[in-house]
Amino acid sequence: MIPGPTPVVDSIRTEMGRDTIAFGDPDFVKDYKEVIDDLQSLFSCDGKTFVVAGTGTLAMETAIANSLQKGDKMLLVSNGFFGDRFIQIAERKGIKVELLQAEWGDAVTPVQIGKKLDEGGFKAVTVTHVDTSTGVIAPVKEIGEVVSKYDDVLYIVDGVCSVGGEAVDLKNCHINVLFTGSQKAFGVAPGLFMLWADEKALARRKSLGTIPEYYCDYENWIPIMDDPSKYFATPAVNLVWALKESVRIMKEEGMDARYARHIRTAKAMQKAFEAIGFTILAKEEVRAHTLSNLLYPAGIDDAAYRTELAKQGVQAAGGVGKYAGRMLRIGHMGNIDLHTCTATISAMERALRALGQDLQPGSGTGAFAKEWDAQ
Ligand SMILES: Cc1ncc(COP(=O)(O)O)c(C=O)c1O
Repeated sequence: MIPGPTPVVDSIRTEMGRDTIAFGDPDFVKDYKEVIDDLQSLFSCDGKTFVVAGTGTLAMETAIANSLQKGDKMLLVSNGFFGDRFIQIAERKGIKVELLQAEWGDAVTPVQIGKKLDEGGFKAVTVTHVDTSTGVIAPVKEIGEVVSKYDDVLYIVDGVCSVGGEAVDLKNCHINVLFTGSQKAFGVAPGLFMLWADEKALARRKSLGTIPEYYCDYENWIPIMDDPSKYFATPAVNLVWALKESVRIMKEEGMDARYARHIRTAKAMQKAFEAIGFTILAKEEVRAHTLSNLLYPAGIDDAAYRTELAKQGVQAAGGVGKYAGRMLRIGHMGNIDLHTCTATISAMERALRALGQDLQPGSGTGAFAKEWDAQ
């Protein structure tokens, strides 16, 4: 139940275990093209969709590399550890970074962003949709409405912990570059990133001429995304198949139903976490639906708790950055079901009791069921 990699369902795992074939095999080429086209329409992109071997961090670097050049000014909006990660990526490239940071647990507002952009000279703004270090969701649609008023500014959204679990697409949210990794709400093993660049983002790339980066240059990948029988760098054949199955599952469920399921699950999980004594870091109005970041009840030690929880059958993540050793992070995104969620709550209760917490058995699972039914 860590917030990525998330549980991989059997039908996706089966694709990863298939006999690997040549990337030029017509069957694979057809599958690769199909998944690219499906992703393009599912997330309303009028430009190009990239499915490339690499993780979310490479997608961050790709977004920056193709949008900005040395000396450009960028507005970096950060609601936590992963937002801050853009600082290094941009500064190494010689980009001038101006920072808007929220207290951990809160989010920078669209008004703050608009005020900053009014100062002028910005070429891009980066926003992390769900920061996995805090469990905070940024209002990406409202921010998009603000950013779209500035012609020269590209709106780049890190959707690593959101795409496929939280409602987001390029058109509706006025996003120019969106990206994610395979291992979170898509429920595939780690190893692929998916990136969408709209027409405006592609025009910016063209205006940059030759860029220093090679592997992550859009221009090198566009011919492959248009016709995957061509070669630039070897595609991760089995992961592409796994992604194709993940997308099939999404289409079968329906995106609206999928987002609604994530909301319902999050609300029930969060009620249960509170019922057994945890505090949720993110303020209620900016609380994500893909994961929860929990502060321990008094007297519970992080390492001891996570060890006991693992004995009870559940792996959870610890905090990062300033919350390392003080936080429990539980993912509830992707292709998880009701049984997995209730079993998780039940194991969390048992682990608390094993560490001496005075807790009524069923207090968490009861709260979960009550909230689930109420939704
Ligand atoms: C919001 C966010 N952005 C970026 C990343 C980096 O992705 P990766 O670890 O796949 O490189 C992560 C990883 O968890 C993330 O949660």
